[in-house]
Amino acid sequence: MAKTSKPTFYITTPIYYVNDVPHIGHAYTTIIADALARFKKLDGYDVFFLTGTDEHGQKVEKAAARKGLTPQQLADKVVVRFQDLWKALDIEPDGFIRTTDPAHERGVQKIFQRLLDKGDIYKGTYQGWYCVSEENFLSEDVPAAADGTKVCPDCGRPATLIKESTYFFRLSAYARPLLDFYAAHPTFVRPQGRMNEVVSFVKGGLKDLSISRTTVRWGIPMPGDPAHTIYVWFDALHNYLTGIGYDGDMDRFQKFWPANVHLIGKDILRFHAVFWPAFLMAAGFALPECVFGHGWWLKDDAKMSKSKGNVLDPYVIINAFGADPLRYFLLREVPIGHDGNFSHEAFIHRINSDLANDLGNLVHRTLTMIRSYFRGTLPAPGEETADDAKIREAFARTKDAVHGHYDAYAVNKALEEIWAYITLVNKYLADNAPWKLAKDPAQKARLARVLFQAAAAIRGASYLVYPVMPGSARKIWAFLGEPGTIEATPFADLAFGDFAPGRTVGEPTPLFPRVDLKEFLAEEAKAEEAKPAGPAPAAAQAANTEVPMEQITYDEFRKVDLRVALVLEAEKVQGATKLLKLKVDLGPEQRQLVAGVAETYKPEELVGKKVIIVANLKPAVIRGVESQGMILAAVADDKAVIPFFEREIAPGAVVK
Ligand code: ME8
Ligand code: MG
Repeated sequence: MAKTSKPTFYITTPIYYVNDVPHIGHAYTTIIADALARFKKLDGYDVFFLTGTDEHGQKVEKAAARKGLTPQQLADKVVVRFQDLWKALDIEPDGFIRTTDPAHERGVQKIFQRLLDKGDIYKGTYQGWYCVSEENFLSEDVPAAADGTKVCPDCGRPATLIKESTYFFRLSAYARPLLDFYAAHPTFVRPQGRMNEVVSFVKGGLKDLSISRTTVRWGIPMPGDPAHTIYVWFDALHNYLTGIGYDGDMDRFQKFWPANVHLIGKDILRFHAVFWPAFLMAAGFALPECVFGHGWWLKDDAKMSKSKGNVLDPYVIINAFGADPLRYFLLREVPIGHDGNFSHEAFIHRINSDLANDLGNLVHRTLTMIRSYFRGTLPAPGEETADDAKIREAFARTKDAVHGHYDAYAVNKALEEIWAYITLVNKYLADNAPWKLAKDPAQKARLARVLFQAAAAIRGASYLVYPVMPGSARKIWAFLGEPGTIEATPFADLAFGDFAPGRTVGEPTPLFPRVDLKEFLAEEAKAEEAKPAGPAPAAAQAANTEVPMEQITYDEFRKVDLRVALVLEAEKVQGATKLLKLKVDLGPEQRQLVAGVAETYKPEELVGKKVIIVANLKPAVIRGVESQGMILAAVADDKAVIPFFEREIAPGAVVK
């Protein structure tokens, strides 16, 4: 295979356990990786972004047994939830690895065999405590309780005592080589504080590591001794090699290995910064450039985790706001190394202020003015004044600073820079008041210049925002009538003036919803109490937009199939105070609907009534119940009020 001349960039996320469905914490790591991968692609790199699922081990084995499934059945179900969530969040990995892929299993066995042959793996007996939830052997230093049992210091759950025959990896032999490696590569672990943690852990001494189990069936069989399965962490870490082709597509493997950055949560730092480089050294592979341990998202000041039951369902937010506001918030709110506390106040404040006000309004105002003052086509702008030049020059500085921040994985700083620039442009518009210039025909050329500066600034700023909010950035470029795409515009080529006069801009639709905090909190509380979440019912949508609704044609309206439906049955949806499940008669057929009307109507009040429904809405699962359509209702004081008919009318009648 011919080598390309492009530099390569290989970025990974942890592979997530399939014992349960993903939450915001998993989304966080994967969103960071997606943003960095997108940036590097713009910046001219040949990028490989790998994510996937960790499907073996006792944790998954037990979760499957509890659900009455085989581990493979559970994995097959849950993997789809991860893949769907990545799609919903506009995350586009270049590879998705499952540890049950036969190619991965073969690769792991091959490396295991190599270490056996080399004498770095030897047989013995392990006796000690094991935490199934972290799939981790407890250190002997962990003190026992009065009754002699031990609790996992990482997750707080009771550990189990095991005594079994095992194969050990000679980790102790790698303490010195690891310390030498850290000394020679001081930025191997980032942020810096975490490097210090790792060094002192290794200096404290390393014990050999048990890497096979006889009591776990759900794992890769050990080559030569199939009574043993390979320890799930030995198996999982090697996904970073097999996921780019080891040892099938060796050209691709050679091209991308070693990784530039393994992005992980700080919970799994030791596995990545101590065990992993030791395994790699033993097998003779090059070591990755960097392990970046990000902080945790907390809720109510505790780490969000499935077992604590304090996880946030990403769909609650995606359904109400779309992917970009969530991506923006998670990346803007805290530096990647720090913990963040997820609060709805902070989330909504960010959307309203940064997205709806600062960026959304800037785009909307500018385009609306170009459309109304110049019928959508800017003529050649008048002379650039000193004030105009500042906007152009500030863009060049912003672009450089943003490049540096993305390169240093300081995404929040990149966003801060971009927003400082947006603020500057907003001030420029306020100062130059194009709406006043428009009243004086003699100022046409000046007006064109002011709007040209604004449009060029928007084009540039949205490009810079693209790694974090790809969907919104693409939309803005489309509004601007851009002939090219962001993806095809190299970062180096991005220039302020590339907004040729004569181009026609399109009609902007609202980019970001403005959200009422009280309404959203009420919604969220409902969603919290009712799990699992699905798409939000329409009557309960919290978002209203500041900018007026877009006009549609009659033909567009006609695509909505509105029908009269007779309510046959109604009952509450378990655990959801706002939702009713209805069975309705549509004339030729019956349907089941979920409607957010339970705060205004008792189930028995609706039976026998005729309502209007959208009959051709795609079915959706709401709080675990399928809804095959939607009831029309007015929203008054956050409550749904349903219009009924005052005359007899047959179910199924068309409403238009
Ligand atoms: O550890 N805040 O998988 P896992 C931020 N299979 N990030 C969080 C988070 C939170 N509250 N909760 C989870 C495993 N994460 C192993 C990894 S890799 C070879 C094997 C993210 O399903 C964060 O990236 O427990 C963390 O490291 C990862 O999910 C753990 O996912
Ligand atoms: Mg975990």
